Amino acid sequence: MQNFKFYAILHYMTSTEIRKKFLDFFAKRGHAIIPSASLVPENDPSVLFNTAGMQPLVPYLMGAKHPMGTRIADVQKCVRTGDLDDIGDNRHFSFFEMMGNWSLGDYFKEDAIKWSYEFLTSKEEGLGLDANRLAVTIFEGDESAPLDEESKNIWMSLGIPEHRIYALPAEDNFWSPGDNGPCGPCSEMFYDMEEMFVGKVLSKDEFVEQVKTENFIEIWNDVFMEFEKKDGKVVGKLAQKNVDTGAGLERITAVMQGKKTAYETDLFKDLLYEIKISCQIREDRMQRIIADHIRTSIFLMADGVLPSSNGRGYILRRLLRRSIRCGHAVQMTPDYKSLVNIVENTYKDIYSNISENKEKIVSELEKEYNKFIKTLSNGLKEFEKVVEIKVKHNGIVESQGASMLSEDVFKLVTSFGFPLELVNELAKEKNISFDEEEVNALLLEHKELSQSASAGMFKGGLANTNEQTIKLHTAHHLVLAALQEVLGKSVKQKGSNITEERMRIDFAFDRKVTDEEKKKVEDLVNGWVNAGLPVIRREMPKAEAEALGAEMEFGAKYPDVVSVYTIQDPTDAYVSKEFCGGPHVTNTADIGHVTIGKEEAVAQGVRRLKATLG
Ligand code: SER
Repeated sequence: MQNFKFYAILHYMTSTEIRKKFLDFFAKRGHAIIPSASLVPENDPSVLFNTAGMQPLVPYLMGAKHPMGTRIADVQKCVRTGDLDDIGDNRHFSFFEMMGNWSLGDYFKEDAIKWSYEFLTSKEEGLGLDANRLAVTIFEGDESAPLDEESKNIWMSLGIPEHRIYALPAEDNFWSPGDNGPCGPCSEMFYDMEEMFVGKVLSKDEFVEQVKTENFIEIWNDVFMEFEKKDGKVVGKLAQKNVDTGAGLERITAVMQGKKTAYETDLFKDLLYEIKISCQIREDRMQRIIADHIRTSIFLMADGVLPSSNGRGYILRRLLRRSIRCGHAVQMTPDYKSLVNIVENTYKDIYSNISENKEKIVSELEKEYNKFIKTLSNGLKEFEKVVEIKVKHNGIVESQGASMLSEDVFKLVTSFGFPLELVNELAKEKNISFDEEEVNALLLEHKELSQSASAGMFKGGLANTNEQTIKLHTAHHLVLAALQEVLGKSVKQKGSNITEERMRIDFAFDRKVTDEEKKKVEDLVNGWVNAGLPVIRREMPKAEAEALGAEMEFGAKYPDVVSVYTIQDPTDAYVSKEFCGGPHVTNTADIGHVTIGKEEAVAQGVRRLKATLG
């Protein structure tokens, strides 16, 4: 261990120096340096984010000509959210940077391995790591490709002894981005963090075991891409032999700064410090998760992703909500401005788009926080209540091993707006079980019931349920929202009436609405129609709907559990939220076009406005 510390101080490098060293090294060997592509793949709707350095280069690995030539090097931003449970350990991050050098039908195994070795060990041009602390793996062979003896021989010619070269199966050493695309056997490099090799030879099984315990850390992967996969099967050779290498910046930085994890390096130190000082409770793993998720979210937003209820935006929302939940558990009062400042500062020399989008990022973070924190605390209280009752009921003193009734989980989801995945996570943490299948069945049944219930309610309340009236009903919500925006929040609905021909709204307002104002209302409504916004129905306790600020009609009586329809714009700001039984179109685009008609007085301080479709 003493040796290790001495060594670490000798070769300390900042993350910025490491990126630069890498790119300089490969530039000197004829590689064109390209900037990182956006985290959002440009022309590839099949993937949500770039999950590996090779993703933006797939067309060139498949044979297209790259404008910069056949030797490329870069540092590519990546996001992987498939295995969030691993985040918080020493080596998994939902955002990471991959340093890579690429041969597009140019050099192959010999140069790739030689340069990897040279970069890792050279004191002048590379990292100056001790070659005695390196272990490598190669592909052991299967029906797609034979044992990679060539790579083994190259490593041995560089001085890596045979007993530190481990041949492993395809799941470790045959790399592909998924079921389809360019792929091939790979050779991975590991660093001996704890000097396991000093005076020892480790068997393959021992080595594999040590990798799991983080005594060895994988720092680089050279993939020899000469095959193609379709539907999970290797179907043949590519037109050219490529090299795809990936050296994880986070891990290499940890090694170069003498740490077991990147959380203790210059990539995370300031961020974690800020997080820790804004928490009342110290809990390292939770605080690491917060740091990881906040950093990833900031990078995603800098690349244009905004929290929403589907696709990329939903993944971002999940990360944010998870960070808020962890923050809640350690009593964090997040100062998003400081958090963004810190990440901006850590990366200011490398990525400028955090600075460019800073205000937007801070406001989105705050918005998401404010939106979720209330649901979270209400839901958590209920969760604890449910568990407590269960514990008492069973006569056990602590919740370990207890289970939750499906009805209770169902209630958390439907009445408290608690996402099922969150209930799942909490339950796992507290070692409480529930029957997920049964809960899902309850949820499905509920969905079907409430759909028919809302149709029934509509029939009772309105004249007719044909397509026109459904469209006009949604238009009605938009018109109210537009009136409030143009005339002020004091505009309150006092009555409504819908026929097949038109919608009519009565609202509290004390003067005539001018033509100019009517035009503004019409433009706003049609702007929302054209934006194609989803119309969403949720059931919640009346108190929660009131807290959300959902519109209710003056004087109307509502039950304890109400149905609320919301329409949100692409930034998730509410366009409209109303207590309402429905039904509605599912997307504002279905309305077509709205024309505002006559406006008149019906009583002292009450106006009536009509609107038609088309
Ligand atoms: N594509 C390989 C990986 O992600 C090497 O860059 O590990």
